[in-house]
Amino acid sequence: MLLNMFRSSSIGTLVSVALLLSTSTATPAWKRQNSGTPPPAQAQDPSFEEEYDFVIAGGGTAGLVLANRLTESGKFSVLCLEAGPNPEVVHAYQTPGGNQFLKGSLIDWGFLTQPQEHLGNRTLQYLRGRGLGGSSAINGLYYGRGSASVYDNWAALGNPGWGWDDVYPLFKNSTKIKAANSTPELAAFSQQYKTFDADAYGGGPLELSFQGYVTDSTNSFVLATSEAANIPIVNDLNTGNGVGIKLGTGTMNNRLRRSSSYDSFYQQARNRTNLRVLHSAPVTGIAFSQSQNGTAPRAIGVSYIEQATGFVRQARAWKEVIVSLGAFQSPQLLMTSGIGPRAELERVGITPILVNENIGQHLDDHSVFSIMARVKPSASTTTMSSSPDNLQAAQEAFFTNLTGPYTAPSGITNGFQSLSNEELQAIGAQAVIDAGYTNRAHVEYLFETVWYPWIPTPYYAALPNESYISVTASSMVQLSRGNITLRANSMSDQPLINSNYYAHETDAIIGVHSFKYLREILRHPALAQYTIGPNAGEVSPGPAVGDNDDAAILEYIKANTIPNWHASGTNRMMPLEDGGVVDPTLKVYGVDGLRVVDCSILPVLPDVNILGPVYMVAEKGAEMIRAEWGDEGY
Ligand SMILES: Cc1cc2nc3c(=O)[nH]c(=O)nc-3n(C[C@H](O)[C@H](O)[C@H](O)COP(=O)(O)OP(=O)(O)OC[C@H]3O[C@@H](n4cnc5c(N)ncnc54)[C@H](O)[C@@H]3O)c2cc1C
Ligand SMILES: *[C@@H]1O[C@H](CO)[C@@H](O)[C@H](O)[C@H]1NC(C)=O
Ligand SMILES: *[C@@H]1O[C@H](CO)[C@@H](O)[C@H](O)[C@H]1NC(C)=O
Ligand SMILES: *[C@@H]1O[C@H](CO)[C@@H](O)[C@H](O)[C@H]1NC(C)=O
Ligand SMILES: *[C@@H]1O[C@H](CO)[C@@H](O)[C@H](O)[C@H]1NC(C)=O
Ligand SMILES: *[C@@H]1O[C@H](CO)[C@@H](O)[C@H](O)[C@H]1NC(C)=O
Ligand SMILES: *[C@@H]1O[C@H](CO)[C@@H](O)[C@H](O)[C@H]1NC(C)=O
Ligand SMILES: *[C@@H]1O[C@H](CO)[C@@H](O)[C@H](O)[C@H]1NC(C)=O
Repeated sequence: MLLNMFRSSSIGTLVSVALLLSTSTATPAWKRQNSGTPPPAQAQDPSFEEEYDFVIAGGGTAGLVLANRLTESGKFSVLCLEAGPNPEVVHAYQTPGGNQFLKGSLIDWGFLTQPQEHLGNRTLQYLRGRGLGGSSAINGLYYGRGSASVYDNWAALGNPGWGWDDVYPLFKNSTKIKAANSTPELAAFSQQYKTFDADAYGGGPLELSFQGYVTDSTNSFVLATSEAANIPIVNDLNTGNGVGIKLGTGTMNNRLRRSSSYDSFYQQARNRTNLRVLHSAPVTGIAFSQSQNGTAPRAIGVSYIEQATGFVRQARAWKEVIVSLGAFQSPQLLMTSGIGPRAELERVGITPILVNENIGQHLDDHSVFSIMARVKPSASTTTMSSSPDNLQAAQEAFFTNLTGPYTAPSGITNGFQSLSNEELQAIGAQAVIDAGYTNRAHVEYLFETVWYPWIPTPYYAALPNESYISVTASSMVQLSRGNITLRANSMSDQPLINSNYYAHETDAIIGVHSFKYLREILRHPALAQYTIGPNAGEVSPGPAVGDNDDAAILEYIKANTIPNWHASGTNRMMPLEDGGVVDPTLKVYGVDGLRVVDCSILPVLPDVNILGPVYMVAEKGAEMIRAEWGDEGY
């Protein structure tokens, strides 16, 4: 009954929730005392079972950064609620080589997109972390920051305080880096291209280092891509220069164990008496009350299910509710709590508290496609996974001696290519320039020492006795936008995800152009030397697709495109009049006491994988929240 009112909230039902709560005077045994500052005077009204200064919905990448930073000084009490389990229930998440076991595991939501109109109606698997650490516990371990111009553009779009010079110190402070030779075991691996600029990192909880095992083909990919795609080999990609190639920085410590937000920010903060982090505690709704002057509703707490007991709980947030459920579920929670596009809410029977047509819209995402080649076994790590015996041997070498292919993810060596205006115009991609995507990377090229993405293409199925590599392209300037809508009016129904890849015709132009570069990279002698068979070993698509047959290339791309997992923008930070959902301090327009802090607020995607930017957003969010509530100087 109460839960239902929280969900299908209207101003009318909200009043009755408040009345109902104020009559419940008993203090349950599990009541959590507010351990922070005393509540303000008007705080006596509704009596929630638990009360905190801040309630964070979502214990993922950003959520656990906030949990740490907001409890650092001891001034505030914080509750952080995560739907999924402790990630250690899927131990493989900790190991680089174990990354292949996370899809469909207990710590993956297992989302599917809607049929994709521009990809022949294919339904795509969309992985998302589900557990403490969120997607940082299941992702590909690549860490980047992108080009300074990306953030200067965010600021120019009406977001003061978000330019590169503002955010670079936050990028630095969230991380610390260990050299690739910082232990004898690590020093035994190839050190080539494992370079970095020490000034770009700080003393933060997130640990960065480099993969252990490196195939010779990986180093050759760096050289081949540099020459074939005109990308400079650089010392570091995390200093604001987002264009270049080297061996990537990874979210790993120097024992080659994953550093997720659970392993870093959470572990550092977990014993603080002013922090309570609950897993297996899905948030079901945000509670609102009228603000003092009667104009804007105020978020006053959340309802959640304590799965261990089955009870529904309600937690009061004296200061703020912070939503951190990622690009799909953050807009879903706003909508199911009554904030969203009017027609969309009414379609599933939700009475709007506040209408904002932009919630769930402007879904900005990167996608990828790969070409695959047959290679000599030493150029690949395919054999590691080709039999249980091989995998066991690789795991044993990892756990006993920190050696062998299990010490590396399948691919965190990425090159970022900038195309000149002349080149963009020559291929008919003026729209990229018009959209402001200049002075930054346009295409990312990735190398995988396996058949990526593991599944057959319509052109070729990997043979179990052969070894493969994949070279992959991802446009960093995608112009298509998708959306998140509701399947039903509750958080227990998965949202409808429409990534809408290739809806914009210019995305196809960039896709075809980057396919041609993929072939140039594969055919470069540095890489071709490892391949077996004609056409530099290319088996997918192979000769069925001619070098200049743009229609056939596009058909191949559309048959093989999958997400690059960078969904964002569904609660974008922009001026309200330009279609924003949150302001530059990440407050939701039109309500009080409510912020969104996660990947859903990105106004425009950076020219890089977005984990690093999401950590930065969370650091910036925490800094602004602390400043606003009188907790500066830590
Ligand atoms: C498979 C994969 C590979 C990737 N690889 C890379 C990479 O190599 N490099 C890179 O830079 N980026 C990568 N990314 C992207 C990056 O990891 C994400 O963009 C980033 O982690 C998102 O952080 P977030 O805090 O916004 O969301 P998340 O980390 O997803 O956190 C959201 C949290 O909210 C929880 N939640 C959802 N609903 C509820 C509810 N009702 N109640 C309570 N909790 C709830 C979720 O379980 C989750 O823990 C990858 C992503 C994926 C999925
Ligand atoms: C995709 O689905 C739509 C709607 O059902 C249909 O009109 C269209 O022909 C389909 N396209 C393909 C390539 O099957
Ligand atoms: C970064 O950390 C340093 C050292 O702790 C500190 O002096 C500085 O204020 C921090 N900067 C930001 C932006 O948090
Ligand atoms: C927190 O407590 C656990 C269990 O007692 C302990 O193992 C861990 O080291 C503590 N962490 C910190 C950062 O103090
Ligand atoms: C009422 O409160 C809202 C939210 O705090 C605020 O934006 C608005 O300016 C206030 N209006 C008046 C008339 O005080
Ligand atoms: C670990 O290293 C030792 C010493 O070099 C070696 O004898 C042993 O076989 C190695 N174990 C594995 C599983 O690689
Ligand atoms: C793998 O198997 C295929 C088909 O069974 C065969 O043609 C090929 O020669 C085999 N390759 C190797 C490396 O043994
Ligand atoms: C979501 O996007 C799809 C595809 O562009 C569109 O058909 C649909 O109308 C959008 N939904 C909403 C609510 O905007």
